[in-house]
Amino acid sequence: MRDPKRVAILISGRGSNMRALVEQANGYDVVLVASNNLYSEGLDWARMQALLPTWTWDSRGIDKARWEGALSRVLDDHRVGTIALAGFMRILSPPFVSAWAGRIVNIHPSLLPKYRGLDTHARALAARDAVSGCSVHVVTEELDAGEVLGSAEVPVLPDDDAASLEARVREAEHKLYPQVLSEFVTR
Ligand code: GRF
Repeated sequence: MRDPKRVAILISGRGSNMRALVEQANGYDVVLVASNNLYSEGLDWARMQALLPTWTWDSRGIDKARWEGALSRVLDDHRVGTIALAGFMRILSPPFVSAWAGRIVNIHPSLLPKYRGLDTHARALAARDAVSGCSVHVVTEELDAGEVLGSAEVPVLPDDDAASLEARVREAEHKLYPQVLSEFVTR
C-alpha cells in the first residue's frame, strides 16, 4: 500500500535539493533516492553519507516504458506514496504520470507560471525582471504546468549573471522544498 509520507526522490545530477529534503525531513521519510544517471553526484551522498537505499539505471538508449516499469517496481517495493523530483532531467511519460496522478511534485527555478522549461535564469535576466525565485508544483502531463504548491522570491541584483542568480535561487529552493513537501504529504 502506498504511504504518502514515504517519499522517493528522483535526481539526475548534483542533488543539492535532494540533500536539503533529506536533511530537513519533517513529517515524511525519504525511503529511496533514484537516478537515471549512474554518475549523479547526489547518489554518492545519498548512499555513503545518508545511508539511504538508492536505485539507478542509465536511461540512455532504454525504452522509456521499460525504464519506468523498473522504477515502478522499486517504488512499490519501498511502499512509496510521494515522488519528489529534484533536478530529474527526464520527462516522465503520460502513463507514468497518470499512474501517480497528484502524487509527484517538482521544484522549478522560476516563479511559475513564468518561464516554464529550461534556461529560466537567463530568461529572467533578459526580461530585466527585478524579482525571480522558485516554485514547487504538482507534476502533470504538461511541462511545469501543475498546481503551484508554494513559491519563494529572490531579488535580481544589477550585476547578476545567470550563475549568480542561479546560486541565489538555489539557496531559496533548499528552504522552500522541504517546507512544501512537509505539508504536501498530509494531503
Ligand atoms: C534546481 O535548480 C531545480 O530547480 C531544477 O534543477 C536544479 C537541480 O539542482 N529543477 P540540484 O541537483 O538539486 O542541485
